Amino acid sequence: VHIPLDRQSPAPLYQQIASFIRQGIQSGHLAPELRLPSSRSLAKDLGVNRITVEAAYAELESEGLVFSKVGSGTYVLPPSQFSPLPKASPGAPWPLWQQEIQANGPDVNKSPDLRLHEKRHPDPISFASGVGDYHRFPVEDFRKILQSVMRRDGISALEYGEDSGYAPLRATVANVLSSQGLQVGSENILITAGSQQSLALVSQVLLKPGDAVLVEEPTYSGALNLFQALGLKIIGVPVDQRGLQVDSLEKLLQQVHPRLLYTIPNFQNPTGTCMSSPRRLQLISLADRYNLPILEDDYVGDLRYEGHALPSLKSLDPGGRVIYVSTFSKMLMPGLRVGFLAAEGPVYDRLVAYKRVNDLTTSNLIQRALEAYVTVGRYQVHLQRSCQVYRKRRDAMMDEIERLLPEGIQISQPQGGLFIWLRLPEGLRADELLPYAIEEGVAFAPGSNFFLGSEAGSAFMRLNFTAHPPETIHKGIKRLQKAIKRLEAGVNLEHAANGR
Ligand SMILES: Cc1ncc(COP(=O)(O)O)c(C=O)c1O
Repeated sequence: VHIPLDRQSPAPLYQQIASFIRQGIQSGHLAPELRLPSSRSLAKDLGVNRITVEAAYAELESEGLVFSKVGSGTYVLPPSQFSPLPKASPGAPWPLWQQEIQANGPDVNKSPDLRLHEKRHPDPISFASGVGDYHRFPVEDFRKILQSVMRRDGISALEYGEDSGYAPLRATVANVLSSQGLQVGSENILITAGSQQSLALVSQVLLKPGDAVLVEEPTYSGALNLFQALGLKIIGVPVDQRGLQVDSLEKLLQQVHPRLLYTIPNFQNPTGTCMSSPRRLQLISLADRYNLPILEDDYVGDLRYEGHALPSLKSLDPGGRVIYVSTFSKMLMPGLRVGFLAAEGPVYDRLVAYKRVNDLTTSNLIQRALEAYVTVGRYQVHLQRSCQVYRKRRDAMMDEIERLLPEGIQISQPQGGLFIWLRLPEGLRADELLPYAIEEGVAFAPGSNFFLGSEAGSAFMRLNFTAHPPETIHKGIKRLQKAIKRLEAGVNLEHAANGR
């Protein structure tokens, strides 16, 4: 084959080769079933690299003009009965089914993009995160544990594991829970890929689109987003200093017949409050009377800095009424993606089956490493240290807020967990404050993220006090003070003023 090549042309050689053969096929000069020269011989004839010819053949194959048979060569295809697909180009319309997704929700709430502030400030401080201080992750310990587990278990650590999770880890979790007054056996534990997955599994098993689900208002935005994505009717129940207002529940139960109640009884996200013991008892009794399943999310129950642990709802459950969910994300590291749930009865078996159809099983290797980490006592030591460190940080942030932020701000001291929930003085809105704060180099989670309607949360902000040491907390609250002053004085935002 003689293919004229222009080595001065800006068109790459492989495209010149492809173009020549394309014309030959389309004009009928190269007949269907014709075997093209091998890439080696054509490359030799043309004095080009073999990869150049292979790239030309690959392009023709992607256009449906030739096909290659392994070990045999590349052949011209008969003209296709199908009209060729348009080439991908920027701005080309999506296929219809994609356009339908765009047109029909349910869309999931998007939180404001706090990464912006990283670009605008050389040394940003974020109080917006939902986990502890990642500088405290026990990276080196975990590396050693992973290595020793690989040595100990070899191939079996890398096979699929049991559907319900690695049996020794389930036993360890059951022991830890039993020591906290929640009597469960390992046959009641399901290991999941974090509590977000537990919430999704429970929703899949118990709910269908249109069902009513009760949530605390405000509540964890990830749960709101999940319930919204599943097309559920979300109904908020107010929270006060003693947690979910159980008194207002009975009327709702009679009116809307909810299929689930989702609650975070300990150090609630975002308010930091704990549900009082009497309310816990009252809630269990109502759930029993109204045939209402309870989903208890205990995401940071072990991060308590003072006071006594309160009984979990699950420990008050005479059996089968509460599904208890917890995680290693907040007390250890979120990237492990390991959490667990405790349940019994038919719902447990159904949850195990749904876990399997969702992702077969959670990483066997990581479960084994975690089991070893907990069993040798490292986890407990890590928790104790975290509590000591975080308690000081909570105190530091409470002090700085009282010292530096304007009067009229309302906060109450959380006894544990990660967050201080702050109400701004009359007239100030957190969503208006956020861009000023970001410009000053400090971020927080605006209250609207945690309410069903964004207006309701406008006076609130959530500050994570665990993420930084006291010096950084001081710096961050000082920046917040400046941002509030600028907002109150009606100073223009710099980026708005510059038209950026
Ligand atoms: C209350 C609550 N539940 C569940 C989760 C999900 O955690 P994970 O899936 O990492 O266990 C979070 C994370 O922020 C949370 O705050």
